[in-house]
Amino acid sequence: MNSITILGSGRVGTALANALSLAGRQVVVGTREPDRLRASWSGPAIEVTDVRDAIDRSDVVINATPGDTSVERLTARAEELSGKTLIDVSNATTRGDDGMPGGLVYEGSSVGELLQAALPHTAVVKTLNTMLFSAMGSPGTLGSAPTVFLSGDDSEAKDRARDILSALGWDERWMMDLGGIQTARGTEAFALLVPSLLGTLGFAPFALSIAR
Ligand SMILES: NC(=O)c1ccc[n+]([C@@H]2O[C@H](COP(=O)([O-])OP(=O)(O)OC[C@H]3O[C@@H](n4cnc5c(N)ncnc54)[C@H](OP(=O)(O)O)[C@@H]3O)[C@@H](O)[C@H]2O)c1
Repeated sequence: MNSITILGSGRVGTALANALSLAGRQVVVGTREPDRLRASWSGPAIEVTDVRDAIDRSDVVINATPGDTSVERLTARAEELSGKTLIDVSNATTRGDDGMPGGLVYEGSSVGELLQAALPHTAVVKTLNTMLFSAMGSPGTLGSAPTVFLSGDDSEAKDRARDILSALGWDERWMMDLGGIQTARGTEAFALLVPSLLGTLGFAPFALSIAR
């Protein structure tokens, strides 16, 4: 199956669906409300369906849903996700008094690790979670070379993730393989920096970059 499934039609899901479709990929978006999304979608051609059908339609599934409930919701889909690559873009934070990320939900662990433990027959790759959604599909427009990290235990699944990153415009030199899925706890912690960055930069696209 050559299509790419994206779960969630929020800011990240929409940005990725637009960018991947424009790159010529066949995109299936899995949403809780397919009729609503079909009626409101004005972007390039995508298929819209419910979450179960969307997972069935692709070998590669991107999780662009809230990180604090992803483990429970995707564990319930273990059978459908078996044998597939799950590219997890989510971060799980608690909300501070200002409504912005205030702390990590999984201190000493990460969504990526918990997903991999709960889904032993699915290869989880964590990536794209260290930037604003608007930078995910347009990294080349940033003022300096950005970095995109990959965390995961399965090298073939990481190759599939690299292929998707390339389609999104990510240069191979900007991709940094951090190692196993446990390294996702480092990148997920970046979410704590986001409120301050938004305060300084506003919603202009930005991404974490490792200077070398
Ligand atoms: N926003 C960013 O710049 C950014 C950057 C890096 C990582 N992330 C991470 O990427 C994920 C998505 O972020 P986002 O900004 O796109 O969030 P969002 O705008 O709130 O969208 C999340 C989408 O997930 C779906 N969803 C499924 N189950 C849900 C539930 N129980 N409650 C609420 N929504 C549910 C919804 O789509 P349907 O209605 O279609 O089902 C919803 O639109 C999060 O884990 C976030 O931490 C975000």
